[in-house]
Amino acid sequence: MQTEINPVALITGASKGIGKAVAMGLAEDGFNLVLCSRTEKDLLAAKEEILAKCPTVQIEVHPLDVRDSAAINNMVVHTRDTFNRIDLLFNNAGIYYGGTSDLSMKDFTDMLDINLRAPFEIISLVLPLMKAQKSGHIMNLSSRSGKTARAAAGGYAASKYGLVGLNEALYKEVSELGIRVTALCPGFVSTEMGNLSGLDASEMISTLDVVKTVRWLLSLSPAVCVKDIYFESVRQVNS
Ligand SMILES: NC(=O)c1ccc[n+]([C@@H]2O[C@H](COP(=O)([O-])OP(=O)(O)OC[C@H]3O[C@@H](n4cnc5c(N)ncnc54)[C@H](OP(=O)(O)O)[C@@H]3O)[C@@H](O)[C@H]2O)c1
Repeated sequence: MQTEINPVALITGASKGIGKAVAMGLAEDGFNLVLCSRTEKDLLAAKEEILAKCPTVQIEVHPLDVRDSAAINNMVVHTRDTFNRIDLLFNNAGIYYGGTSDLSMKDFTDMLDINLRAPFEIISLVLPLMKAQKSGHIMNLSSRSGKTARAAAGGYAASKYGLVGLNEALYKEVSELGIRVTALCPGFVSTEMGNLSGLDASEMISTLDVVKTVRWLLSLSPAVCVKDIYFESVRQVNS
């Protein structure tokens, strides 16, 4: 008799917003989870909330800053030792500061480090395992701002365009190895970050819409690669 192995998802920025909603959705679908973000109490609260709904899933939490190379390396090594597989890397942790020519060098550098450099580093740590498995899906949470820049958010757009470029190259590099790569490029999503737009929750994409998109991507046959998904909120803020 064959024993069913639960798939494993590693999600960065999983304590709130999109990352937490996707973690909950995947737990409902039977995924074991590896979750990280900086604020330990939020991460533990998210774990408790997910376990209350999905008591049979295994959840490992890592309070860390994705800029900390040693910490993310430890997380990936611990994941390999615990589960010996990663089926989905959901590269989601991100920050937003408005500004273009007026953006400070510190805010610009922080966005590049968290929104672009860290996803690159985590991909390079996770890929050897996925290559050995000959399977896996890497989803990179870019943004509408990775497809079209607003005058008010040039630094953020630079980080998200960069992630789309990395995603595209990786997609071409590893698709034939059985590894799928997809950039998600949503407009405003109803989270703490999305609320900065000033839009009402009903005018934004819901986190559940993102969960449904992730589920749809995971449901496709191994022959299909969706390089990116660009989905807008009906109301937009174009400044
Ligand atoms: N909401 C939108 O309108 C929207 C639209 C397009 C794209 N996105 C992108 O979607 C992703 C998630 O956004 P969200 O709206 O869910 O934001 P959110 O509600 O602010 O959540 C961000 C998550 O990332 C974590 N995080 C931030 N910096 C981190 C760091 N240095 N190390 C580890 N974890 C970190 C946060 O926890 P801690 O602060 O405790 O670390 C939190 O768990 C981001 O990449 C964002 O750019 C959002």
